[in-house]
Amino acid sequence: MTPLTDRFGRTFPYLRLSVIDACNFRCSYCLPDGYRAAHGRAKHLELDEIARLLRAFARAGMRKVRITGGEPSLRRDLTAIIGVGATTPGVETVALTTNGSVLPQRIDEWIDAGLRALNVSVDTLDAHAFARITGHDRLGEILQGVERARARRLPSIKLNAVLLRGLNDDQLPTWLDYLRDRDVGVRFIELMQTGDNRAYFEKHHLRAETLEAQLVDAGWSLRPRAPDAGPAREYVHPEYAGRIGIIAPYSRDFCAGCNRLRVTSTGDLRLCLFGDFGIALRPLLQRDDQAEELLAVLVSQLGLKKATHGLHEGNTGITPHLASIGG
Ligand code: GTP
Ligand code: 5AD
Ligand code: SF4
Repeated sequence: MTPLTDRFGRTFPYLRLSVIDACNFRCSYCLPDGYRAAHGRAKHLELDEIARLLRAFARAGMRKVRITGGEPSLRRDLTAIIGVGATTPGVETVALTTNGSVLPQRIDEWIDAGLRALNVSVDTLDAHAFARITGHDRLGEILQGVERARARRLPSIKLNAVLLRGLNDDQLPTWLDYLRDRDVGVRFIELMQTGDNRAYFEKHHLRAETLEAQLVDAGWSLRPRAPDAGPAREYVHPEYAGRIGIIAPYSRDFCAGCNRLRVTSTGDLRLCLFGDFGIALRPLLQRDDQAEELLAVLVSQLGLKKATHGLHEGNTGITPHLASIGG
């Protein structure tokens, strides 16, 4: 079939699939007031449901699947999920976003199962600040896991740092040291307001502009945008092996290049990170002979995808918290 296309001519080769909404960390920006996962009440998709979902999306043009959470490694069958992704016809890249809490122990088996891209949440390289933000004093072992992924020559490794006023906004020199000899990407992400973090957002939100100006002063230059670049603007420097990406939804609208759809851990399709309640795909994931019906639903739902999240225009969004849809 022809690849999924929306009213604005965008195609969607990228699926972000949340496989669990529970997390073992308590990052202050993500789960600010004791979020309780739906897990238990509404159970996450099982492996066979995920396999059917991925086959359908791949037939509709999906080439990359990112497994997110919550924290995906809390699922005992995560390695099997990676394997299903890697063996689905049409899928070229299986990516994982994780907090890294079991990275040193598990990265080898994930790579052996077919993982090709890894994003780890590392909001700061200062161990004390890391413990304060995440509630876990485990930065050292997480970074060891990243080193293991580098040693295995994983094609893409990125570290995500949410910019937080007063908590990690003095770290650029430390990051630059880290990036000098390491071929990894760091993503500085503007804190996004969600349904339950308003007070936190007002206290800690920091625009990325100042950081970008500091980078330019230090000789970093903006890399021309690749057509499939996603929301990040990437900076490079001839003396550094690493790259720096900036995800700044409040500073600019990057949605014209949107290439992604999301499915929650319980099987709801989300057309956008913001401003969309989702529709349940799970009833259509029960048998192999439902594939055509599922594809028809995807095509008709895409007609509803909006042009932009509107955050840069003052829309605060209705997304409850990113833990439920994996960011
Ligand atoms: P790749 O380009 O696949 O590496 O990934 P990514 O940046 O989409 O991956 P990751 O899972 O590491 O996401 C990092 C964060 O970027 C997410 O948690 C979101 O906060 C933000 N982000 C990713 N995609 C979007 C998007 O489509 N819209 C907005 N507003 N933010 C996004
Ligand atoms: N704003 C920006 N990024 C967020 N993340 C989680 N919640 C937020 C938020 N409110 C990021 C985490 C992680 C990624 C999956 O989502 O830092 O790296
Ligand atoms: Fe796409 Fe929505 Fe992200 Fe914009 S905010 S890039 S429309 S998913």
